Amino acid sequence: MASVERSPRGRPALTWSWLLLCVALQLQLASAAVSTLFINDTNTQISIHLPPDSDDVNFYVSSPDWYQYTAIGFGSTMANSLILVMYSAADTRRVTVSPRFTTGNTEPVFSPSVKLTVHDTSAVRSFDMVVNATCHGCRSWATGSIDAKSTTQPMIFANGPGISLNSDDPAAGIRRHIGYGRFNVDMVRATGAGGIGTPSNATVGAALLADGIYHVNDKAATAHGVIFVIAALIIAPFDSLVAGALSRWPTLHAFSATFYLLFVIGALVPGIIVSREHIATQHFGTGHQVLGLLTVALMGVMFFWGIALAVIRKSAKNRGQDPPEKSRVLSLVHRWVGRLVWLLFIINGGIGLKLAERSHLFLMGYGVLAGGMVVFLLPIYFCVWRYSKHKREKQEEDSHELHNTQSIYNHDY
Ligand code: HEM
Ligand SMILES: *[C@@H]1O[C@H](CO)[C@@H](O)[C@H](O)[C@H]1NC(C)=O
Ligand SMILES: *[C@@H]1O[C@H](CO)[C@@H](O)[C@H](O)[C@H]1NC(C)=O
Ligand SMILES: *[C@@H]1O[C@H](CO)[C@@H](O)[C@H](O)[C@H]1NC(C)=O
Repeated sequence: MASVERSPRGRPALTWSWLLLCVALQLQLASAAVSTLFINDTNTQISIHLPPDSDDVNFYVSSPDWYQYTAIGFGSTMANSLILVMYSAADTRRVTVSPRFTTGNTEPVFSPSVKLTVHDTSAVRSFDMVVNATCHGCRSWATGSIDAKSTTQPMIFANGPGISLNSDDPAAGIRRHIGYGRFNVDMVRATGAGGIGTPSNATVGAALLADGIYHVNDKAATAHGVIFVIAALIIAPFDSLVAGALSRWPTLHAFSATFYLLFVIGALVPGIIVSREHIATQHFGTGHQVLGLLTVALMGVMFFWGIALAVIRKSAKNRGQDPPEKSRVLSLVHRWVGRLVWLLFIINGGIGLKLAERSHLFLMGYGVLAGGMVVFLLPIYFCVWRYSKHKREKQEEDSHELHNTQSIYNHDY
């Protein structure tokens, strides 16, 4: 009797276990609860998974290790997004994942309050950086949040230039991206049990928006460099040449000096724009910036100094007198400080290339160009110097004669 009763209870038990198995299978299939974007242009895969009943976010990113960094962000602009910057660690095999925030189109700042777990499978291998990580309590932050119910959650990504960083420091300085874009992610699809698993690289539950730029170059930085080179290696030597023969072409020197100053200001403006983009340069405290600003200030002083000098000479001439003795000293200072300014500009150009992390080859090229300019100009300067010395001596002879005649007259008195 007891056995008769037990038997019908056995069947539902069996049915339940089948059902559980089915649910488990179902969950296994649902481990495809991942939304993935594959970006052809940068060969980058971004997968997002949201565990249910949690505030965590799982993410998986695979990208060529050529980039200084690959970053993703939750939000539609750099400003106010939760940005996760990923780069190879100091040993070039592990990865560093750095949560950051910014309030505009400037270098995001590391935020230690965001907690991350970088899973063991994250690594740099065979030219790819693979990141498998969990961001804890990352569904909302001070300036934004993730909407788990949204099928079009806005996200951003960016890739840094091909300069290796290899750092364990989550606050390491990063360069401006050479590519970035915006995309939407289906968070409903991304939600489910099973974790991130091994996502495939096919785009599902995500869509790249068409307004991305995948190979931008830093126009302001380029303009800063190119305008500066024109100023320091073309206009400055010409101006210096003209100024060397000052007595002959004072007006031309006034023109070329004005041009020189305008070009230097033209290089300074994009320099200031670029400075504001990076944490390390935002306070204008690096050697290149300090020396550059001081040199420009010195140049500005010399510009007005030159105007004052010209006015003094002109008025002396108008009164039919020789320029006053003190103008000689003023002229000497103007001349030598002018040369110093030029030298400082050339040196600071090299320091700037270092700050910009240009290759040694690039730096050497600049050195050869600057050195070549000196070798090319020295004989020309020498000729001008000889010529003006000759002229000066002649003038002095003339004035001696004049003096002598005057003395004779004096004697006569
Ligand atoms: C040094 C670091 C960075 C600098 C200086 C920087 C600067 C800029 C600038 C100036 C723009 C305007 C468009 C342009 O002229 O290219 C921009 C746009 C953008 N950046 Fe960045 N960025 C940096 C890092 C990042 C990172 C780590 C991300 C990560 C997701 C990112 C994502 C974007 C996106 C998606 C846009 C287009 C949407 C927007 O204007 O916010 N950037 N960035
Ligand atoms: C990416 O490339 C694949 C194969 O080359 C192509 O089928 C797909 O349409 C491309 N996707 C985009 C968004 O360009
Ligand atoms: C990512 O890490 C999780 C947790 O350790 C693991 O279960 C999963 O298999 C990993 N996926 C990949 C592709 O490494
Ligand atoms: C995507 O994954 C498949 C299978 O792992 C692989 O054969 C293919 O090369 C991958 N495509 C890209 C563009 O990485």
